[in-house]
Amino acid sequence: MSIAVFASGSGSNFQAMVEYARRQQWSTPISLLICDQPKAKVLQRAERLDIPYHMIDPRRFASKRAYEEKVLTYLEQSRIEWIVLAGYMRLIGSTILNKYEGKIVNIHPSLLPAFPGLHAIEQAFHYPVKVSGVTVHFVDEGMDTGPIIAQEAVTIEDQDTIESLRAKIQQVEHRLYPKVVDQLIQGKIQYRRRRVE
Ligand code: GAR
Repeated sequence: MSIAVFASGSGSNFQAMVEYARRQQWSTPISLLICDQPKAKVLQRAERLDIPYHMIDPRRFASKRAYEEKVLTYLEQSRIEWIVLAGYMRLIGSTILNKYEGKIVNIHPSLLPAFPGLHAIEQAFHYPVKVSGVTVHFVDEGMDTGPIIAQEAVTIEDQDTIESLRAKIQQVEHRLYPKVVDQLIQGKIQYRRRRVE
């Protein structure tokens, strides 16, 4: 059994995770990258790190379900047990969720439930809040709503810019996310559906 990372962008979290897994000699290896953006920099990182990947363009499928069924065939081929979202800018649909509930985690650049969605760093900066941070959570059917596993705060100083805040947040992400996934694959974190009041 192994791990697949899903990513849409630069892939700095993907790289940090692969390097950590190799240093720590994880018994559950990262064996696949799924990417939905043909020009994403993460594809070059996968080449350099020698991780097999599939670039699957959702626009070439008639429906989200058809796209996710294609993704599932690759996950099954590689015997994937865990899905790690790392800057995957797309909601996981029911086709994948039904097969992998409790086995999908995501990292988000804010202290959820504040600032869900695609522009969390910019929104925290412009609000402006004094403290933001990073959240690692299980994925459910909502947008950044699944059960929270770990959070770490990052303070926003007067002299910060969006770019300096992004750098601080990413530094935390690269340290926190591999550690959480390490605990997860060792069975040290249990999935429980979030209670909805
Ligand atoms: C990360 O900061 C991650 O938290 C964020 O995208 C970035 C990807 O960076 N994810 C989201 O905003 C999800 N809503 P990377 O491609 O360099 O890892």
